[in-house]
Amino acid sequence: MLADQLKQAPVVPLIQADDPAVALKTVDALQAGGLNIIEVVLRTDAALDCLEAIAAANTGAVVGAGTVLSLNQAQEVLKRGAQFIVSPGLNDDVVHFCQEKEIDVFPGVNTPSEVQRAWNLGLRIVKFFPAGLAGGVPMIKALSSVFRDMQFMPTGGVNAANLSEYLSLPSVIACGGSWLTPQKEIAKGNFGVVTSLAKEALANAKG
Ligand code: 3PG
Repeated sequence: MLADQLKQAPVVPLIQADDPAVALKTVDALQAGGLNIIEVVLRTDAALDCLEAIAAANTGAVVGAGTVLSLNQAQEVLKRGAQFIVSPGLNDDVVHFCQEKEIDVFPGVNTPSEVQRAWNLGLRIVKFFPAGLAGGVPMIKALSSVFRDMQFMPTGGVNAANLSEYLSLPSVIACGGSWLTPQKEIAKGNFGVVTSLAKEALANAKG
């Protein structure tokens, strides 16, 4: 189960790529830095092809799909090899589909009522999005004080400077974010930067 792997390396980098070859190089760079659980966000025309290329490459990475908004998208990413699904919000259809297929699903929530809805659906791990704007660490503490068996994956505004603070909360299972895959550096072919950022995040996570 993904939860066990997240405990080893509780950081999930996002890949937003226009080209499968670039996406594969980004995965290599992240893995060189010790990060193996990767989310490809459905925000480019090539996202599904990038996802498929990573899944087919057998790199040992665990690849999931992010920004999954609809049941159709959930069905499609599964066909392309996604091993888990992340959404910015809570779509019951997507959750039910993933539960039927026994695939991990992390819908985004950030209010008590949304956490309650996720809990009612049987979920015990959710994305907390957009983490920074939705109250950050104090908000997660407040939610965790009442939803005592819920774990959170903060995403949105997480970065090298605040990662440790989020991960210090017992209810935070992992953090996700795009700071590990800076578009400008990737466009210039500076994959070494990606590896350095991954190493830094892992060191912070373990520190
Ligand atoms: C997401 O898709 O989870 C967020 O857009 C990531 O937010 P970030 O770019 O602040 O990491």
